[in-house]
Amino acid sequence: MTTHQPRTIELVEVAPRDGFQSISSPLPTADKIRVIQALVDAGLHRIEIGSFVSPKAVPQMADIGDIVAEFIGREGLRLSALVPNLRGAELALAKGVRELVYVVSVSETHNSKNVRQSVSQSLDGLKAIADKVRESDSNGFLRLDLGTSFDCPYEGRIGWEQVSRVLEQAIEVTDGLRLEVAFCDTTGRANPYQVQQTFRQIRQRIGGDAITWAFHGHNTFGMGVANALFAIQEGVTVLDASSAGLGGCPFAPGATGNTATEDLLFALNEGGVETGVDMARLLEAADLIAGLPGGHTASSLRQVPRARAVA
Ligand code: COA
Ligand code: ZN
Repeated sequence: MTTHQPRTIELVEVAPRDGFQSISSPLPTADKIRVIQALVDAGLHRIEIGSFVSPKAVPQMADIGDIVAEFIGREGLRLSALVPNLRGAELALAKGVRELVYVVSVSETHNSKNVRQSVSQSLDGLKAIADKVRESDSNGFLRLDLGTSFDCPYEGRIGWEQVSRVLEQAIEVTDGLRLEVAFCDTTGRANPYQVQQTFRQIRQRIGGDAITWAFHGHNTFGMGVANALFAIQEGVTVLDASSAGLGGCPFAPGATGNTATEDLLFALNEGGVETGVDMARLLEAADLIAGLPGGHTASSLRQVPRARAVA
């Protein structure tokens, strides 16, 4: 099996979604906008800006329409938004968001706690959303987040066979729509060897270039950067990360924040992998995030003397 050494990686900044949703009392909209602007200024050109979800389930996202309005249509900036159902997809498309992130958890228990549906019902929802995307844009594509692809807070370890089964059904119902597929380590319990095995086994079965592969990691066990690096060796070209490591999903008890964007950037920079992100400015954005009231942050690079971190 050949390993991949990509020259470039796309970083998707998820602090505005995975991060902000973890802060129990919702942040003022102006603070969110200030942070997102700092992330954009650092050179992050793919931002998961939030989610179109029930404000009863996730009150932190109630102002998503205003946030999107601030950033939509900017040259060179790709905005995506998480949607849990067709209703969310319609709201996002109506606001001009072209990149929808649809989430299905591989584990039944987590899927039911997260979106109150069985996996099979979520796959029916995926079909409806895929049809909607196709109808609104003949060049459209969909990002599919397969939650709990390695571990579930309720069911424990998830084997690659289970992930593969859900993905195969997802491919069938999306019927040729271009997909970006992320295997999500929702709890941050995966280890690099498991990440390697899951991507390797599944990519051997689902070959071709039809899918862009992504990895979404949390750093609960300190494996976030290592997991991401093993993922890119298996053909992943898109990595999710959250600046300052902000996060801790309200639907994944015990999980801490996403892998910190700055820690991942350090590793990629050291390997000569291009991302277009400026470390000094990214650390300024991460400092802003770390200063938000009520947020839990953790990153290694913010603890390094700044002159050494940006050298
Ligand atoms: N956007 C805004 N409001 C929505 C919505 C959406 N996408 N989907 C449903 N709603 C509203 C409904 O209109 C309804 O409002 P009402 O009580 O005022 O009539 C309410 O939410 C409940 O709707 P229902 O269809 O009964 O959904 P539910 O209670 O079974 O909840 C979800 C299902 C998916 C809507 C909800 O669990 C959710 O939004 N989850 C998001 C989870 C998430 O973001 N997780 C983190 C990412 S991994
Ligand atoms: Zn997450």
